[in-house]
Amino acid sequence: KPSLKINIAGVEFKNPVMTASGTFGSGREYGEFVDLNKLGAVVVKGVSSVAWKGNPTPRVAETYGGMLNSVGLQNPGVEEFVKKDIPFLKQYDTKIIVNIAGKTVEEYCAVAERLSSEAVDMIELNISCPNVKEGGVCFGTDSQMAEYVTREVKKYTKQPLIVKLSPNVTDIVEIAKAAEAGGADVLSLINTLTGMAIDIHKRKPVLANIVGGLSGPAIKPVAVRMVYQVAHAVKLPIIGMGGIMLGEDAIEFILAGATAIAVGTANFMNPRATIDVLEGMEGYMKQYGYQEMKEIRGKLL
Ligand code: DOR
Repeated sequence: KPSLKINIAGVEFKNPVMTASGTFGSGREYGEFVDLNKLGAVVVKGVSSVAWKGNPTPRVAETYGGMLNSVGLQNPGVEEFVKKDIPFLKQYDTKIIVNIAGKTVEEYCAVAERLSSEAVDMIELNISCPNVKEGGVCFGTDSQMAEYVTREVKKYTKQPLIVKLSPNVTDIVEIAKAAEAGGADVLSLINTLTGMAIDIHKRKPVLANIVGGLSGPAIKPVAVRMVYQVAHAVKLPIIGMGGIMLGEDAIEFILAGATAIAVGTANFMNPRATIDVLEGMEGYMKQYGYQEMKEIRGKLL
């Protein structure tokens, strides 16, 4: 039986399968379908220093091969999260990764500092949400800003820091290098790709926010390409995501150079998606007689 164990920035994961932030809540919603003990990590939805109410509805739309969202990082704030979600997740033998959001560098730092003494295994710095006017992707599309916010947050967190990158850039490698220079320990990519859908009968945009972030199989080739480019340009480990539905999709990301992968939109279509992906990855390892993940990571012929 192959081992799917991995180590990222000194943290041991039983396997490389994680949930993508915002698509799994804090795990509770999926408890009926998924044994959380089987996951490498649960990456929870974005948390800010105070509660955010998000954008006006409608804020989700289905598209061919994907989904558009303009949720706007609705969340109850870090205090609520610490009180309710951390104790829930601590019951399970899985790693806890908290995605953090802020409108300013100071807000990001405040959340990181608040979580630094909690039972959280890693922090994921969200500089790639396309749905908020302040903060979010503003920090993830400019290399100087990306480096600066990474460096500041790094001062306030005790856990390894993942920086989550946006595909809405002309040069993903430039931003990845900036996050690395700022002191990121890990990179995760990609967040959603800005898109739009129109209701031709109402002659109006489908989303109240007009534009939103596209996720799902429609963006998978973009994500694989970006993971490949970043893996060849930086030394940091990568968590790859974007349209992973099956184990085979996940293996593409590993071959492109990712150490771990995250399942996002697929959770909405198939609540067992994370388990199906994990089993599919194990099947591939067995089929080709691989014993460990490192035998295939970045190993394109
Ligand atoms: O597509 C996204 N939607 N990416 C994020 O980072 C946040 C989320 C939201 O809440 O808008």
